[in-house]
Amino acid sequence: MDKAKAKQEISKLRTEIERHNRLYYLEAKPEISDFEFDKLLERLIALEQEFPELVTPDSPSQRVGGGITKEFPTVVHREPMLSLSNTYSIGEVSDFCARVEKLVAAEGGGTPEYVAELKYDGVAISLLYRDGLLVRGSTRGDGRQGDEITANLRTIPSIPLRLDSPGGGLFDAVVSGEVEVRGEVYMRKDDFERLNEERPEEERFANPRNATAGTLKLQDSAEVARRRMSFVAYYLKGHDCEAPTHLKRLEQLKSMGFMTGAAARLCKGMDEIAEFIGEWSEKRWTLPYETDGVVLKLNEVGLWDRLGATAKSPRWAIAYKYPAQQAKTVLQGVVFQVGRLGTITPVAELKPTKLAGSTVSRSTLHNFDEIERLGVRVGDHVMIEKSGEVIPKVVSVVLDERPAETAAIEVPSECPVCGTKLERPEGEVSWYCPNEEGCPAQKRGRILHFASRNALDIQSLGESLVSQLVECGLVSDAGDLYRLTLEQLAGLDRMAAKSAQNVLDALEKSKKQSYARLLFALGIRHVGAATARELAHACPSVDRLREMGEEELAAVPDIGPVIAESIRDFFAKPWVAAMLEKLAKAGLPMQAGEEKALVNTNFEGESVIFTGGLERHVRQQAEEMVRERGGRIVSSVSKKTTLVVAGKEAGSKLEKAIKLGVKVIDEDEFERML
Ligand code: IVH
Repeated sequence: MDKAKAKQEISKLRTEIERHNRLYYLEAKPEISDFEFDKLLERLIALEQEFPELVTPDSPSQRVGGGITKEFPTVVHREPMLSLSNTYSIGEVSDFCARVEKLVAAEGGGTPEYVAELKYDGVAISLLYRDGLLVRGSTRGDGRQGDEITANLRTIPSIPLRLDSPGGGLFDAVVSGEVEVRGEVYMRKDDFERLNEERPEEERFANPRNATAGTLKLQDSAEVARRRMSFVAYYLKGHDCEAPTHLKRLEQLKSMGFMTGAAARLCKGMDEIAEFIGEWSEKRWTLPYETDGVVLKLNEVGLWDRLGATAKSPRWAIAYKYPAQQAKTVLQGVVFQVGRLGTITPVAELKPTKLAGSTVSRSTLHNFDEIERLGVRVGDHVMIEKSGEVIPKVVSVVLDERPAETAAIEVPSECPVCGTKLERPEGEVSWYCPNEEGCPAQKRGRILHFASRNALDIQSLGESLVSQLVECGLVSDAGDLYRLTLEQLAGLDRMAAKSAQNVLDALEKSKKQSYARLLFALGIRHVGAATARELAHACPSVDRLREMGEEELAAVPDIGPVIAESIRDFFAKPWVAAMLEKLAKAGLPMQAGEEKALVNTNFEGESVIFTGGLERHVRQQAEEMVRERGGRIVSSVSKKTTLVVAGKEAGSKLEKAIKLGVKVIDEDEFERML
């Protein structure tokens, strides 16, 4: 294809992809399937790889991430990013209105109007656009200065890489000058659950807000892209595009391509504000994301500056926070669950109670230290709370109402499933069942993990089927699954011939999953899906992985000494060796598949670093081009670095390279080498 044709197609693809992006994320009205969307994006990336000079920073291809940021530079906000004063009391909201009204009257204004919005439970960020192009994104930090995390923010589909002009139109339109947009990055509940599912138990995030904060700080933007976050805009500043009221500014933000809070409503006074707060106190549970209150802002923006701010928060806005959702119920009993790694988790059996939009009858008590801390006994009245609004937990005991007959919760001395004496390793809070090989609960847990969505995704292997398979001795580990016959399956309870065949088909299909998924599916302690991907990348086969020493393992990105030790321990177990043999025999992917074919080998053997600003390439894309030509990208200059590509205003890295005598080339030379 010639360049002019490619340029045309690239431009068409970009418009099309961004349109579908918006239909999906902003309007929730997708017109094409995920598969079709991926095809469009793949085509764009392929064309951009062929013609790297056509890559632009606002291309949707830039959303997939890939660059590694070692340290986030600090940026000073143009205007401090203030926080809001919070209250849990409607009375204080009313006081706020009275205060505002008095100040507005003193300024000679009439009766003020307010905008009520939902308070999204996420992380505040600021975005800077220059001539319509996203140039910088940062965290709030301490309000005065934050971290520059542009590469991570680019991956969020609902953050426009280029603004629409308020008049409409894509890409061709330019909003001139500088525009700052502030808002909240958050994680939808479904995206949050999906993320947690693929993490090792001990690394799960407590709520979507923590997950968002943790993700924004990641150094690997490709991982950020995979985690899927969302953005809602609530603040706009910049000449040429400032409307006189907050409500109109929200409209402007929308026409620039942002998502704004769908619930925003004009309120004429305290009555309407109270109505809004009341209306959303229950309705908010139906939203796909978490909200923890309502934000009230004076609609007339001209008055904002005149009312001013205290050291921390503006006088023209306030946040009303909903009280944590609590309910009182009775602890009827405690059962002990045995996890796939042998961990014993006490689970509270509660008298079923309505809480935050659902009925709760069970909740985790985490571990025995927690039981001691709470001082809870069976029969007690307890308060339960939805913290982070996801998983209910017991927060306190209502001692005043303790009945005469209560029973202490004892640590069981034996595993409730296999009867083995429990152990508590030094320094750990949990008790474990040490019967790793024989305990049916652990076998069952390991097999369910093997079949789970982010592992080999074998949907027809549900909990009851796996329990039956383990109980009747047909299956002890994942390797045995592939020896099951139609007759064996059809002979089980509630299993028709057709379902049995479905299970066999699903198992057959699972052999086509990737090697990285298989590594995750093995269930090595501390190895989540992301670590498994790193491992798969660094080590081409299970056989090789078994030979790797702790030191060699610890050199893999993401893997520290604890994980390295855990991997070594895992492969040293005889039952693991037996399982691996069965899996290999069955034809599971025990090694990396066809690696991406190299474009050419012009960078083979080179350890390359880019420094300074490139004029015709986006850094990440340039790095990818080096990798596709056999080179490695390094993050700091050392004696092992073989090539430095120096762009504009290259600084200390260039100096160091010259000192060490490393070869330095400019962008022109780089292009010739490609
Ligand atoms: S306005 C100067 N609007 O709540 C006022 N903030 O407790 C700027 N937040 O730092 C904030 N939803 O992270 C505003 N609709 C909304 C919000 C919102 C969530 C967060 C934001 C802010 C914090 C203050």
